[in-house]
Amino acid sequence: MTLAEIATVVGGTVHGDARARDVVVDGAAYVDSRQAVPGGLFVAVVGEQVDGHEYAAGAHAVLGSRATAAPTVVVADPVVALGRLARHVVDRVDAIVLALTGSQGKTGTKDYLAQVLATVGPTVATLGNHNNELGVPLTVLTADAGTRYLVVEMGARGIGHIGYLCELAPPRVAAVLNVGTAHLGEFGSREAIAQAKGEIVEALPAEGTAVLNADDALVAAMATRTSAAVTTFGADGDVAWRGLELDELGRASFDLGHAGEWRPVRLQQSGAHQVLNAAAAAAMALAVGVPLARVAAALSAAADASPMRMELHERADGLVVVNDAYNANPASMQAALEALVAIGARRGRRTVAVLGEMRELGPTAYDEHVGVGRAAAALGVDVVVAVGPEAAGIAAGAGDEAIVTAGRAEALAWVRENVAGADVVLVKASRGAALEVIADGLLAHDVEGGSAR
Ligand SMILES: Nc1ncnc2c1ncn2[C@@H]1O[C@H](COP(=O)(O)OP(=O)(O)OP(=O)(O)O)[C@@H](O)[C@H]1O
Ligand SMILES: [Mg+2]
Repeated sequence: MTLAEIATVVGGTVHGDARARDVVVDGAAYVDSRQAVPGGLFVAVVGEQVDGHEYAAGAHAVLGSRATAAPTVVVADPVVALGRLARHVVDRVDAIVLALTGSQGKTGTKDYLAQVLATVGPTVATLGNHNNELGVPLTVLTADAGTRYLVVEMGARGIGHIGYLCELAPPRVAAVLNVGTAHLGEFGSREAIAQAKGEIVEALPAEGTAVLNADDALVAAMATRTSAAVTTFGADGDVAWRGLELDELGRASFDLGHAGEWRPVRLQQSGAHQVLNAAAAAAMALAVGVPLARVAAALSAAADASPMRMELHERADGLVVVNDAYNANPASMQAALEALVAIGARRGRRTVAVLGEMRELGPTAYDEHVGVGRAAAALGVDVVVAVGPEAAGIAAGAGDEAIVTAGRAEALAWVRENVAGADVVLVKASRGAALEVIADGLLAHDVEGGSAR
């Protein structure tokens, strides 16, 4: 599109020299000037720390709230304008939008779904975790006339957020995975979280499909909030599984069922919770007509697309390290601890959980940390290493055996010293705690070892 066309779509005016209106944007849009794309559109956002306009000088074209040295479409609010531009592109490219939200597993499910759909047609999906009012339009803008499926991860930090994202990318298929306690601090209650997440099925047209978790009461109840057809996934859902088994690295194999037909699936990712994510992705793919056999085969072939989520590594001496340092909240801690214990039980390995802070939990934060420690003890995790004073509640909940450390360096030193090839180590905390340094540090001694896959 030319800047003149973009200005018309977003209701802005073009600033620059005489040729500025004819500048053609044929690269992606971006908000971080360090990730500049040739021929792309730099969206200048005024943040709390930095003002994007100050980095606009070398840009090919800019969408901003004031003129810059580069050809610029000036609007009142560049983020809103970016959203409008995304909607314009969605309407023009005619791809089927499949959107999903939930408290845990969005990125994992999105990665499964994108890999399933890519086997039947050109698919564009959220890159990594870009699931907010910037990430969703930036994702959408990477679609083109050839795109058949647009897979969009949507996150919510408040009421109305998902509704807004659905205006930018109106879904034909929308899934809600679960309602947990992630971001409870911002929302206040699980009911409020359900209210916000359910906006995704309210956005569906009558000919669309809502995909809901049959085993999560707050999610199942969303069936009344949509005019679309409803299909469920779960142990007894419309899309179901049976014969679930975990191998020695905690990877699930099961039969995936739909409408009386069953097909075998063998996932390459660790953790029983991946079954849920795979089933949700399957229900979404089935909703757009992908045959069950193809869904099952594509799920089995699906590789890790987003790092640090239950990433499995095996050190040369046999030590298994599960790097789940991408993020954490009480529900995902539970899921990861269960996976750790499952791996330990299969090979008779000693289990070591290196756990750090869970952020954004609000006033119940300490108790929730204690709960995670208790869960670890109840599951029979052999050693719990709490990283830093923020994770002290975990140690308190885990009991006498827990190792309390001052921070990442001390925790790494402890595990390096105290674990051996016969053990399995889980590393997990909120993103801000950046515990991947511990997983990396444990594997750094690995000369000839590699990924377990
Ligand atoms: N269905 C699930 N139930 C419980 N925990 C899960 C589930 N799926 C994934 N997890 C756990 O949650 C972590 C985050 O998974 P993922 O990144 O897919 O979630 P997300 O919903 O995209 O999170 P974010 O809000 O950060 O975007 C994983 O590393 C895993 O431990
Ligand atoms: Mg995510």
